[in-house]
Amino acid sequence: MPVPLDLPAWQQLRDHAQDTAEEHLRDWFKADPDRFQRFSRRFEGLLLDFSKNRIQTQTLDLLLELAQQAQVPENIEAMFRGDPINTSEQRPVLHTALRNRTGPALRPASAPASATVDDAPDSASDSASEDERGTDVLVEVNRVLDQIRLFASKVRNQTWQGYTGKPIRTIVNIGIGGSDLGPRLVCQALKPFGDPTLTVHFMSSVDGAHIHPILTACDPETTLFIVASKSFTTPETMANANTARDWLLAALGSDTAVARHFVAVSANQRAVEAFGIESSHMFEFWDWVVGRYSVWSAIGLVIAIYIGFDRFVDLLEGAQAMDDHFRTAPLAENLPVLLALTGIWNSNFQGVESHAVLVYDDYLRALPSYIQQLDMESNGKAISRDGQPVSWATGPVVWGGLGNNAQHAYFQLLHQGMRRFSADFIAPVETPDPLGQHHDLLLANCLAQSAALMQGRTEQDARAELAAQGLSEDEQDALVPYLVFAGNHPSNTILYRELTPRTLGSLLALFEHKVFVQGLIWNINSFDQWGAEAGKQLAKTLLPEVQGRKPVGAYDASTRGLLAYCRER
Ligand code: F6P
Repeated sequence: MPVPLDLPAWQQLRDHAQDTAEEHLRDWFKADPDRFQRFSRRFEGLLLDFSKNRIQTQTLDLLLELAQQAQVPENIEAMFRGDPINTSEQRPVLHTALRNRTGPALRPASAPASATVDDAPDSASDSASEDERGTDVLVEVNRVLDQIRLFASKVRNQTWQGYTGKPIRTIVNIGIGGSDLGPRLVCQALKPFGDPTLTVHFMSSVDGAHIHPILTACDPETTLFIVASKSFTTPETMANANTARDWLLAALGSDTAVARHFVAVSANQRAVEAFGIESSHMFEFWDWVVGRYSVWSAIGLVIAIYIGFDRFVDLLEGAQAMDDHFRTAPLAENLPVLLALTGIWNSNFQGVESHAVLVYDDYLRALPSYIQQLDMESNGKAISRDGQPVSWATGPVVWGGLGNNAQHAYFQLLHQGMRRFSADFIAPVETPDPLGQHHDLLLANCLAQSAALMQGRTEQDARAELAAQGLSEDEQDALVPYLVFAGNHPSNTILYRELTPRTLGSLLALFEHKVFVQGLIWNINSFDQWGAEAGKQLAKTLLPEVQGRKPVGAYDASTRGLLAYCRER
């Protein structure tokens, strides 16, 4: 595995960053009227404008060279073939197979066996069943898709009924992390396509204040719970599922009601059965689907019910279109690769520590959280694929929110604070909710903010503005320092025509592949999450001590002090 610091292009990029450190984006825009054309690309209805990054043609050439030297093209192929791409584990990652709607066409004719799972050891989750060995992935994918299609249509056409014979009107998806964020995002984003007679809730946190209002809003006779957990051992999900089951039993009074009101999505059949859900009511996915890449799997069951199976397929097809582009487009035209490379440039050569996802689309309000998990759980790593500590920056801190609201909250720091950051501005050109000039106002704000972050305001401009307002020289002197802002902040803008299932599929796959390419260049394993596991173990140990059932153990003074305070209840 190439160590990035040793790659010639990495060293050249370092020199190049020093050479261009004093230059300003606004001067590059002034000097080059074609800058937008040179640094923007389209894919179907998506436009990626990366011209507001601190790059020039030479920068992009070096970054593309870096991708070649880091063997990005070879690794893209390896991922699609289902070949392991990490030395630390032999598990393939085949979320792309989940949206492979054209079957064997995505498999190289010479190596049809590569897209099968012949051995799927577990890294940080429960193992998939032994039966998977040698199973054709696409056959399995299509089998489960068919199961989803049938079940979704039964719920939608009301032939699937609750225990008392009433149709299902409310669906509660119980899951956390990747078993929550993807389906939550897609159901919110595609609300205009959803069945308006169905209500969908997402029960994720173990906080009673979150669960209580959801259960209060549900009618047990007409509610379906989907327990979504790859491992089916995640404590929060299991606690929530048990509480929901108790609530249902208390209302309906019979154990047999569970079969009509609970289904499971999991890779752990044994645990699902132990919970009391029979295997015919389980929708399987597999060890080769990593949680944060699982929205395309049976984890999307709630989506298929809410928007209908055909539209769920549109979502998959949108992702597959991006997969095809990612796999076949030259690196210089390849949207995920370009997004990844500008991110590498910002993180490793421009001192950027955090990345803001700024969404100008209320339907996508869950996107920042979704990308947070995708990016930070994938690339928040300090050990290389060869098991060595890394000495280069890996994934940034990702944060963000609804851009228009954020302008009146934290954008002050973006314009005049002392931190280095980069940003993605994301907006639809058309809205399903036309209302006077509202959408134009929204777009104007989006465009204005990225322009202002790039341009900044010079002392000369500030002075001219104050003079135009009639302020004296002295008054200008007093105010000018406050009105100057540096600009030169890097950002991408991603525009799309309208948010359809297909567009959303492409958009999410774009971010998935961006993260993958960055992980390759940083030489880290983007598909494990040992750090997230550590806290889970400790929470298990601490529970009886919080409850006062066990004496406080030999923890650090802070944990002991906090435990003691909790036990004063
Ligand atoms: O703790 C992190 C994590 O394992 C995520 O990677 C995953 O998406 C989430 O928990 C939920 O896991 P599961 O689907 O197994 O309940």
